[in-house]
Amino acid sequence: MLFYTIASLLLVGTTFAQTPPGFTPSVNKTLDVYYGSTYITPGLLIKKSAVAKAPVIGVTGETLTGKYLLAMIGKPGQGANAKRGTVLHALLQDFAPSGQTQNGTNVLTTKATGPASYFGPAPPAETPKHPHNYIFLLHEQPANFAVPSGQKSAVSGRMGIDWPKFMKDAGLSDPLYANYLQVQSGDNTKREWQA
Ligand SMILES: *[C@@H]1O[C@H](CO)[C@@H](O)[C@H](O)[C@H]1NC(C)=O
Ligand SMILES: *[C@@H]1O[C@H](CO)[C@@H](O)[C@H](O)[C@H]1NC(C)=O
Repeated sequence: MLFYTIASLLLVGTTFAQTPPGFTPSVNKTLDVYYGSTYITPGLLIKKSAVAKAPVIGVTGETLTGKYLLAMIGKPGQGANAKRGTVLHALLQDFAPSGQTQNGTNVLTTKATGPASYFGPAPPAETPKHPHNYIFLLHEQPANFAVPSGQKSAVSGRMGIDWPKFMKDAGLSDPLYANYLQVQSGDNTKREWQA
């Protein structure tokens, strides 16, 4: 147990992953994610009320060209009911450089609201409480991208999406950038800000 703990600490100290431990695919480059003025450092524990609306995303230090696909996947954290699977919180296509910057981030925007519109984290109440992970993955979008027929029900139903399988079916290469946040199960904070 002690060795296991030390080993995990060492692992955390030496890896550059922007995705949670054990999540596949693992990604090293940071996707900048802002909810209002809050910058998401990978793994940040945040209130449900602060993440109700879709974030601003982008990258620092690189000027992208072309189109990108953003997936946001909810995954129960350690200690969760193992039977609970993934939830697709967003799948948004056609992200492209906007020419605008926020805090040095080259902001990417899209007019698309699909294939799956954004819905904010809302982890169910559990005893004991534990944080759920919400992972952002930015992929290069292939020309003529469409949700593969075998993935349509997972995308519209949003439950149990298998991202590595989706990537294979849709012909996506590995994600270029990623990030993740955490929300505590049963967080029922009221919205503090609303447009
Ligand atoms: C991420 O960084 C680790 C540690 O430097 C490296 O072993 C791994 O290959 C990198 N992964 C990717 C996908 O670049
Ligand atoms: C600006 O971005 C850096 C990372 O590039 C981050 O550490 C910092 O918190 C951000 N600040 C604001 C005000 O968004």
